[in-house]
Amino acid sequence: MKQLIVTETIPVAPSTPRRFKAEKAPIRGFAFRLRTFPNREKILIGLCALLWMLLPGGVFSPAAAQEKAYYGVALLGDPHLPGKNLPAKEAVIRTIDGWPDIDRVVVLGDICKETGTPGEYAAAKAFFGLLRKPARFIAGNHDYIYADEKDALGKKVKAFPDARRAKLKRFAETFGLSGVYGSEMLGGYLMIYLSPDDLDSAYLTQLSDGQLAWLQKRLAENKTVPTLIFFHAPLAGTLHQYNEQANTPSFIAQPTGRLRDLILENPQIFLWVSGHMHVPATSESFSAPVNLYKGRVMNIHNPDMERKTIWTNVLRLYPEKVVVRTWNHAKGAWIDGLERTIRPPTHP
Ligand SMILES: [Fe+2]
Repeated sequence: MKQLIVTETIPVAPSTPRRFKAEKAPIRGFAFRLRTFPNREKILIGLCALLWMLLPGGVFSPAAAQEKAYYGVALLGDPHLPGKNLPAKEAVIRTIDGWPDIDRVVVLGDICKETGTPGEYAAAKAFFGLLRKPARFIAGNHDYIYADEKDALGKKVKAFPDARRAKLKRFAETFGLSGVYGSEMLGGYLMIYLSPDDLDSAYLTQLSDGQLAWLQKRLAENKTVPTLIFFHAPLAGTLHQYNEQANTPSFIAQPTGRLRDLILENPQIFLWVSGHMHVPATSESFSAPVNLYKGRVMNIHNPDMERKTIWTNVLRLYPEKVVVRTWNHAKGAWIDGLERTIRPPTHP
């Protein structure tokens, strides 16, 4: 089984404070004063406990309070590296690194600008070398499906299976992965990371039979765990028909029939997180009733990073809900009116 490293953060349980013998304390003045109180041992224990709570990592430190409240996941759609306006993209990384409540950054594919050449992957590796947060990477069509060289007219051409396989290997090696898909637990949620990896498909974003079999097994093993799926392309019909590509076969997750059946058989799936369509936060499709697939799975669409204004969606994974907010990097502010709350199926 190809699986990413599981790095769920588990707060360390406190050890039982030792009972102090104040009479043997090396700091005479402190020991002397304590002798004047009949319950000095209890007082010392209380002071030690208070110190433990206030120290970094203690239960009352800001980091621990955030860990206990929710897990933060920042979503990067379609970086297309190195591409246009690299300094603005690097500024996004610095901003996310400055957010103390982010536990994961998920990069939603189309990491490479055009065709996934060695040069583009080298640029991507250097770019994400700036990021200090734990990251998860999934592939997009630009990362694997095109031949390195364009045709005589300068158009991208789909690669033969061997070349696609080699680019998927390049993707995995670039980010130190054992495979192009995997899963982990985070904050009580199952996070499933999928990549388009079909070697023959005419569509841009199709899962291979092998990956579908793995997905089916992983879901069957976790029927009661609320599940989020991250994939480059959105689910069918989760956008308004706002351009010629929306909801068409190469711009939705494939194969549509098998994915529909898997989703219907697994009601624990309640969020699908995608890029691919470069949906800006200003679009009427960005946050709309049409995003709900089969009345149950909310598709969170994410913009690309090649815009004058870059937006970043952030998920907050609380035990009973997921809150989605959108940050406007140009303004340095959260967008009013775009906050969404999605309840997992175990907490209707
Ligand atoms: Fe893209």
